Amino acid sequence: MTFTRADYEKAAQFIRRRTNTSVQVGLVLGSGLNVLADVLEDRVEIPYQEIPGFPQSTVEGHAGNLVLGRLEGIPVITQKGRVHLYEGYSAQQITFPIRVMQMLGIRTLILTNAAGGLNRDFAVGDVMLINDHINFVGMAGNNPLMGRNDPMLGERFVGMAQTYDRRLRELALSVAAENDLQLRQGVYVCVSGPQFESPAEIRALRLLGGDAVGMSTVHEVLVARHGKTDVLAFSGITNRAIDAIDTPLETSHGEVLESSRILVPKLETLLRGVLRSLR
Ligand code: HPA
Repeated sequence: MTFTRADYEKAAQFIRRRTNTSVQVGLVLGSGLNVLADVLEDRVEIPYQEIPGFPQSTVEGHAGNLVLGRLEGIPVITQKGRVHLYEGYSAQQITFPIRVMQMLGIRTLILTNAAGGLNRDFAVGDVMLINDHINFVGMAGNNPLMGRNDPMLGERFVGMAQTYDRRLRELALSVAAENDLQLRQGVYVCVSGPQFESPAEIRALRLLGGDAVGMSTVHEVLVARHGKTDVLAFSGITNRAIDAIDTPLETSHGEVLESSRILVPKLETLLRGVLRSLR
């Protein structure tokens, strides 16, 4: 299915009719991080199923509501519950909400995800500021920007050298420093899932320069940059990537959800600090 600008506009109109709040910042919440949407003030929640064109989340730990409200005085629109490629949706479907947020006027998109730590220095519970990515899924040809390009939405060929906005990264680092919060930095590797990586894959991704690995975020980032939205993204390290066979270790979704609880307060501090500076 190929969406057009009219489809995004139809969903945006629906949301505008339900709430007259303007929005400045879009927020996407990763596995186990949905509770962050509950700290918004003056919330209006709209279930995805009511919004024309919106995909439905099918994974435990991922709700399915669009939440509009205010955080630190900033009008925010939040995707509480992300939809992934491995659920059987196309790259265009999973990024539909980002296009709609753009239609509604966001200038900044902040993304969070749960990720496996490839970098040996990282521990479970660490937060990594994403400063670059390796998009295995997109490089292999599964990409939301494929298909006919609508020049009203963005350019055909999008540069990727200034993807994770430098000013926003510096802001996040200063918020972390002010709050005595250790903020790692590194390269996020996007894979399709739903299986976790094999130990040989983990060693390969590490060798290629990846610091964290996960199954989301980069598709949304591509659409954001296509529409010239500024991007800030954080990975919460929920598990250490397992790099050897024949050990008793195994990664599980339960482990990811369990660890994401440690990450919620850290991400809330970072989000609040960054938003406060955007006022
Ligand atoms: N691999 C891929 N995706 C993930 C992981 C992982 O180890 N942890 C959380 N999301």
